[in-house]
Amino acid sequence: MRISPVAYFNTCRPIVPSFKSNELETLNENGEVVNRNVTELFRADLRWQEFTELLAEKYYNTDRINIVDYACSDGSEAYTLALSLMNYAPEICEKSFPIIAKDFDKHILRQAIAGPCNVFNSDIDAINDHTNNRFDDYFNIVPAQDSDFIFAIRPKKILKDKIFFEHANILEDVQRLPDENNVILCRNCWEYLGKQNFHYLAEQLYEKTKNNGLLVIGKHEEKFGVPEVLKKHGFRETQVKHVYEPVKRMTA
Ligand SMILES: C[S@@+](CC[C@H](N)C(=O)[O-])C[C@H]1O[C@@H](n2cnc3c(N)ncnc32)[C@H](O)[C@@H]1O
Repeated sequence: MRISPVAYFNTCRPIVPSFKSNELETLNENGEVVNRNVTELFRADLRWQEFTELLAEKYYNTDRINIVDYACSDGSEAYTLALSLMNYAPEICEKSFPIIAKDFDKHILRQAIAGPCNVFNSDIDAINDHTNNRFDDYFNIVPAQDSDFIFAIRPKKILKDKIFFEHANILEDVQRLPDENNVILCRNCWEYLGKQNFHYLAEQLYEKTKNNGLLVIGKHEEKFGVPEVLKKHGFRETQVKHVYEPVKRMTA
């Protein structure tokens, strides 16, 4: 069993070091959770091999793929995608990197840019499983960031260079993306965006994926009715669970 207590912080209280470096909750003045940074390497709600193989097939003849990882938290998701591309779809790596990884929370973004992340043995096993046991090529083991951990890992330059981190609020940023070949990850974060924004965001995402794009959500989104919202705005799920493609809409 994995027990991962989190630290709590808000604007009135100092940040308490967290049990796992990437597991922080932000509370509002009423004590309600308004944000969580929980993430992990190779989060199991996406079949990373199937997803990257789908990318390789879809973008075989495309010059450039714009991969944007919104709500990237500490970078675990972006590193997972970079490792998956290198291992399962090397032929499209050059046109896919750097992955642009964005988050609204400046605190977690600072951690992502700084690098080290406390991990469990299972994280290292997952990295080895998906990279043909090449953990050492991509990460250094460094002292744990927290006394409850034995060690942390820091991505090596060869991996870190594949990601460009940037501060952004997805609700204001999607409009700025290029108009074609966008692969947009927006996973396990809709809960924090406000239900009133779902239709607006789904429409923006449709606009930015309708020209040869894809959209990826997380399992968490199922609890909040996001798949239904996406369908209303013209998306359909591909053969890879949680990966959506836009369907041509009839013009009036
Ligand atoms: C639970 S984590 C999900 C991390 C990762 N996508 C995953 O699935 O493992 C949610 C992340 O969404 C980010 N977030 C919340 N609101 C956001 C917004 N408006 N724009 C961009 N990121 C946001 C949070 O800061 C947090 O890091």
